[in-house]
Amino acid sequence: MARETIATLRDKAKALREEFEQAAAAAREPAALQALRDRFVGRRSGAVSALLKSLGTLAEAERREAGQELNALKADIESRLEDAQRLVESLARQQALRRERLDVTLPGRHPFLGRRHPLTAVREELEDIFVAMGYEVYDGPEVEDDYHCFEALNMPPDHPARDMQDTFYLDSRAAGDGGPLLLRTHTSSGQIRYLLENPHPPEVRIISPGKVYRRDSDVTHSPMFQQIEGLVVGPGISLGHLKGTIEAFLHALFGEQYPVRFRASYFPYTEPSVEADLGCIVCGGSGQLPGGPCRVCKQTGWLEILGSGMVNPAVFEAVNARLGRTVYDPEEVTGFAFGMGIERVAMVRHGIDDIRLFYENDLRFLGQFYR
Ligand code: DAH
Repeated sequence: MARETIATLRDKAKALREEFEQAAAAAREPAALQALRDRFVGRRSGAVSALLKSLGTLAEAERREAGQELNALKADIESRLEDAQRLVESLARQQALRRERLDVTLPGRHPFLGRRHPLTAVREELEDIFVAMGYEVYDGPEVEDDYHCFEALNMPPDHPARDMQDTFYLDSRAAGDGGPLLLRTHTSSGQIRYLLENPHPPEVRIISPGKVYRRDSDVTHSPMFQQIEGLVVGPGISLGHLKGTIEAFLHALFGEQYPVRFRASYFPYTEPSVEADLGCIVCGGSGQLPGGPCRVCKQTGWLEILGSGMVNPAVFEAVNARLGRTVYDPEEVTGFAFGMGIERVAMVRHGIDDIRLFYENDLRFLGQFYR
């Protein structure tokens, strides 16, 4: 090893520092920084390490001072490299953020996997129509008790209307205040829940969609199906409001060209009760098709769509009794309610004749309706 003096070492250190400055200014990537690290401060072949090794050739008196200077240079270069490393990383992060920028406000593209189930799509369509009319969407529980599902809806235990709903009862040991637990047989229980949870008349305007359950199964009935319930309460609400609302809804859904008619009916929780029919969209109301009688409307020219009526004062009284005060005074407020099957609407809408097709997960069937 060539003999050094402190002066020659200082010259070399100065040259090294300049060399480093230049090289460092050009290094913009992690790999370039690593190369610099190896070249200047690498333990084996680094230039500063080589100078440190040559300290031994210095005169004893100068060794310590020169050593300190070289170590300072080494520390300096290392800390400069660390700074540069941080800078490079943060630049890379910023670039990645720019590159991967995602505008969540853009409209959706076709999903790369899957599509909406026709029942989901129909349910959303129904919800949209009512939301546009100012309705709130209320979600009630599927496991209900006797009180909300029947009793408060003016169906006491011995009421014959209960027999029409073959019910799934749950373990009676779990029964609470509201009597036996069951899978709700209709979404009408949501009316009671909403009124009890929101004791603030006079304005109520809700729909409540969801699954309901009955021990019932054939081409038009499924043990699990879906309904949408509607409830409007306020001072002066009349049958005219009910008819206007249902007509506007059916026209929005099926088109203005179909007539809507109301037939007297009976439900314990409405008085009077009416059912709404739509002129058959398959045969145009004639009951006949070129090939023979229309099977969709069974030659009647009409399709039954929903049940409805003016809220029975007994329902308001039941809610008041539970609340312990008169919140919905039948002398002050009236209301209308309606309920319809989502499968039924989807079947009429798309000419589907077997309800079970909805639940069989055959993609050839499900894929025909909506994107
Ligand atoms: N709950 C009835 C059913 O399950 C449907 C219904 C009829 C709902 C009349 C109502 C109503 O709110 O007023 O078939």
